[in-house]
Amino acid sequence: MQETLDTIVDDAAKDGNAVTSRAQFETFKAGLMGPRGSFTQQRKQMGRIPREERPAFGKKLNEIKNRLERILTETLEKIEKLESASRLGLSIDPTLPSPEEQPGSLHLLTQVREELCAIFRQIGFVVAEGPEVETEFFCFDALNTPPDHPARDLQDTYYLPEKIHFANIPQREEERYVLRSHTSTVQIRTMLDKPPPLRIISPGRCFRRDTPDATHSANFHQIEGLFVDKNVTVKDLKADLDYCFQSLMGKEARTRFRPHFFPYTEPSFEVDFYSGHLAKVGAEWTEIMGCGIVDPSVFEAVGYDPEVWTGYAFGLGIERIAMILYGVDDIRYFYQNDLRFLQQFS
Ligand code: DAH
Repeated sequence: MQETLDTIVDDAAKDGNAVTSRAQFETFKAGLMGPRGSFTQQRKQMGRIPREERPAFGKKLNEIKNRLERILTETLEKIEKLESASRLGLSIDPTLPSPEEQPGSLHLLTQVREELCAIFRQIGFVVAEGPEVETEFFCFDALNTPPDHPARDLQDTYYLPEKIHFANIPQREEERYVLRSHTSTVQIRTMLDKPPPLRIISPGRCFRRDTPDATHSANFHQIEGLFVDKNVTVKDLKADLDYCFQSLMGKEARTRFRPHFFPYTEPSFEVDFYSGHLAKVGAEWTEIMGCGIVDPSVFEAVGYDPEVWTGYAFGLGIERIAMILYGVDDIRYFYQNDLRFLQQFS
């Protein structure tokens, strides 16, 4: 009988190894300790053995029971480990260096943005920021853009649902939130915050309801510029933009102003830059950005005295500059995160 008990323990140790789930464990446990389990059967033999042998048998039963319980506990612990390993997935050490030994690098748009900011910093501009969610006041009204202006159309601008509110962007009455369609919003935010004179550039993301194609994206980046001082003229604007394009594209670069209309500048211009020396562009002149002399109504909207202060403003697309400088022929490459594209500029 003692031998049978030892065999039960040996078998249990072996069988326990094969148990890998809770269901199997319950069957395994019942096979030992349940009403019909092998150990239970042995315990029932107590009544049948001679009285004088009972104490020794009892002792043995106790010892076997302890050994079996240890096997059960260990088996259960093993199952719990298996379960948590399968929940956690592969065992990895996140503190080890990446197996791909390539250092990261800046995205091409970041490189071009930084280059443009560095150029303007050299002539006294500082970087200003504004939110990507804006109110109609900052995006349109304060920029002299009336309610019926086509840029405000639902077809062009993303409006947020009326029930959404952002505590950090206060709304005026009857005013909707938009995803900013240009960085010109930061002109207004900065002027409301600081007295003149000032020189800011503001790089950032903008959104428009455009169907994506090689030259359009619903999400893109601009750099806004604003210079407010006394006696600012078109000559200052032209000289600073010439300086910018010569720094960016070489000494041959020139700019050409064509009359245009923007609600927030008067006069307004579209700017072409001379690209005859850039084989990649293949044109004499390439349209690049908008600019102008700040409209007095914009100064009035922010409480600057238009009799005293003058200024120029401009806005340019970072993607457009990057495409021209690096010969990228589809704007969508910038957002696809395809290493074959990104690595060319790292
Ligand atoms: N906001 C214009 C756009 O998104 C660009 C622009 C034009 C900005 C003229 C200006 C400006 O500051 O004066 O197309």
